[in-house]
Amino acid sequence: MVTLDEIRPVIGKELDEFELRFKDSMKSNVPLLDKITYYLIKRRGKQIRPMLVFLSAGLNGKMNDSTYRAAALIELLHTATLVHDDVVDETYRRRGFFSINALWKNKVAVLVGDYLLSRGLLLAVSNKEFQLLEIVSKAVQKMSEGELLQIEKTRKLNIAEEEYYEIIACKTASLVAACCASGALSVGMSEDVVKKMWEIGELMGMAFQLKDDLLDYGSGQDIGKPIGTDIKEKKMSLPLIYALKESSYFEKKRIINMIKNQSKEPEIIEEIFNFVKDKGGLEYAKKTMLDYREKAKVMLSDMPESQYKSAFMNVIEFVTERKN
Ligand code: IPE
Ligand code: IPE
Ligand code: MG
Ligand code: MG
Repeated sequence: MVTLDEIRPVIGKELDEFELRFKDSMKSNVPLLDKITYYLIKRRGKQIRPMLVFLSAGLNGKMNDSTYRAAALIELLHTATLVHDDVVDETYRRRGFFSINALWKNKVAVLVGDYLLSRGLLLAVSNKEFQLLEIVSKAVQKMSEGELLQIEKTRKLNIAEEEYYEIIACKTASLVAACCASGALSVGMSEDVVKKMWEIGELMGMAFQLKDDLLDYGSGQDIGKPIGTDIKEKKMSLPLIYALKESSYFEKKRIINMIKNQSKEPEIIEEIFNFVKDKGGLEYAKKTMLDYREKAKVMLSDMPESQYKSAFMNVIEFVTERKN
């Protein structure tokens, strides 16, 4: 199994420098904000996205200041969306600890998310990184659209497999794609290469969200955030969509009714977990995830050999094997 500790050393120097710049990019004179950003830095996540920026840059050229700015901008926006996501999903645990909304309430979490977003935008504007800004803003637009599409579908409790792919392409794959594209852009790659890196990131991002949705069914160990949240929030992810498709009319109706009326009850969540497992929903989602992974790897295999390419391959692997 691939671990991040194997991948990190390839870009160790860059990640250390990133850490300092990222911290700096959040600084504020408002004591409450400073306290919260300090907390966010201490409780940092896996940092897959900055890693992808550096690896994509290394794959295509020599890393530079623009690469660092891309990594910081993307991690700022990612953090902002997670802070907001926990408000939207009413989730109180993130990265193995309390979420911002759990500690400081929704009002503060919404404003902190906005603050991080604006700091990210300013970072790009004040350095005249307009192409980077365009790539990343496009991804953020998609993320918001994806989240809203999900809410719309959640209300109706009917979602087709194709619509699920559209949702995850928007809400997650677009930002992962932006990581890979902006890394390549930062080292001055041609439009064609930037586009190709975007596509690799998009495929990997699909696999990433499929894994996230599988992890919501539990992995036998702590994933750093609550499990069963998707069902609780009436979010239909691929395992459930597939299980419902494999069910009789009455079975389907019974499960949909349970989600509609009792989705917050632990016994109901448990029952739906078992239903999904019995119908082969987890296996189906896993297979789909591995198909995306394979496509991403095939596309990446065209790139010239380097230590960055091997590490990139390992990240693709890690995304689908991770335990949190
Ligand atoms: C979580 O992303 C949100 C999704 C898009 C599924 P990560 O799993 O990369 O979050 P952190 O940054 O490591 O906490
Ligand atoms: C991804 O969806 C969230 C974003 C794109 C911000 P989830 O709601 O499934 O993410 P987690 O599971 O809370 O990290
Ligand atoms: Mg969530
Ligand atoms: Mg999730």
